[in-house]
Amino acid sequence: MMDVEATLNAYGAQVESALRRYLQSAHEADYAAVFDSMRYSVFGGGKRLRPALVYAFCALCGGEPERATPFAAAIEMVHTYSLIHDDLPCMDNDDLRRGRATNHKVYGDATALLAGDGLLNRAYETILNPAYTGHLGAEAVCRAAFCLADNAGADGMIGGQIIDMDSEGKAISLERLMRLQQLKTGCLIRAAAELGCIAAGKTDDATLTAARDYASGIGLAFQIRDDMLDIEGDAAVLGKSVGTDAAAGKSTFPSLLGMERCRQTIRQLTDGAKAALSPFQGAAFLEALADYLVSRDH
Ligand code: IPE
Ligand code: IPE
Ligand code: MG
Ligand code: MG
Ligand code: MG
Repeated sequence: MMDVEATLNAYGAQVESALRRYLQSAHEADYAAVFDSMRYSVFGGGKRLRPALVYAFCALCGGEPERATPFAAAIEMVHTYSLIHDDLPCMDNDDLRRGRATNHKVYGDATALLAGDGLLNRAYETILNPAYTGHLGAEAVCRAAFCLADNAGADGMIGGQIIDMDSEGKAISLERLMRLQQLKTGCLIRAAAELGCIAAGKTDDATLTAARDYASGIGLAFQIRDDMLDIEGDAAVLGKSVGTDAAAGKSTFPSLLGMERCRQTIRQLTDGAKAALSPFQGAAFLEALADYLVSRDH
């Protein structure tokens, strides 16, 4: 039985030490609040799932995992920016994230907004900095930057966040909810898998299709589990408040399907995700990760 948590922790430690380097500035004393606020949210916990996917797909494609570090760090910066903005009073208005007060509760709305923007930009500064990614070659760097921008942008995560807000207080169809969740959560998880393949230099159609199919399955399952944890989770374990979806009148998988069908759907999506890995040799970690995420409690 593979120890998923041990591998997640090892990948997490690897990306965190890189993030410490990337999130520094020689001039930060002149505008310390923004760097303090950026680091506050990045280093405040987090499962580091997206970096782990970058590393694992790079390894699966035969690449040296270290090659994937700038991409792993960049996607965690984009993810963390999305959480800072998601928690703002104008969005989900949440007080707790990664086990502590949300960014805007500590630094104020304006600095939180700018810290999010700072992280979003620093993600591309990291990918495009020749000192970090020059050895990967211009084509891989371009592909990676485009992949992340496309999945995080208005046709990806941001589009999903818009549908999410637009759906508050109304009952939406299951089809619309699936679209929302695939965009707001699925896109970044798919980008993580793809970035790993790009770092390894393996970008043939069959590889990318398999990576995307796996990531789409676990991505949707991940968000269904997130919605379930908002109902049955423990805030102390989750590190974020519970009950907030219902309070905001959001349509979620449990509200549309009920808990039991959510569980069945997660199982089916997970089995499909694992099946998508069949073209690869040595996918034991990614298979075990898919199973681990089915019953995660944080
Ligand atoms: C939370 O993501 C937001 C969703 C997309 C559901 P994670 O559950 O990966 O949050 P962290 O990174 O562990 O804090
Ligand atoms: C947010 O989804 C996903 C993002 C793009 C940030 P949620 O609003 O459900 O995430 P949590 O539950 O606050 O982590
Ligand atoms: Mg939200
Ligand atoms: Mg939220
Ligand atoms: Mg949620």
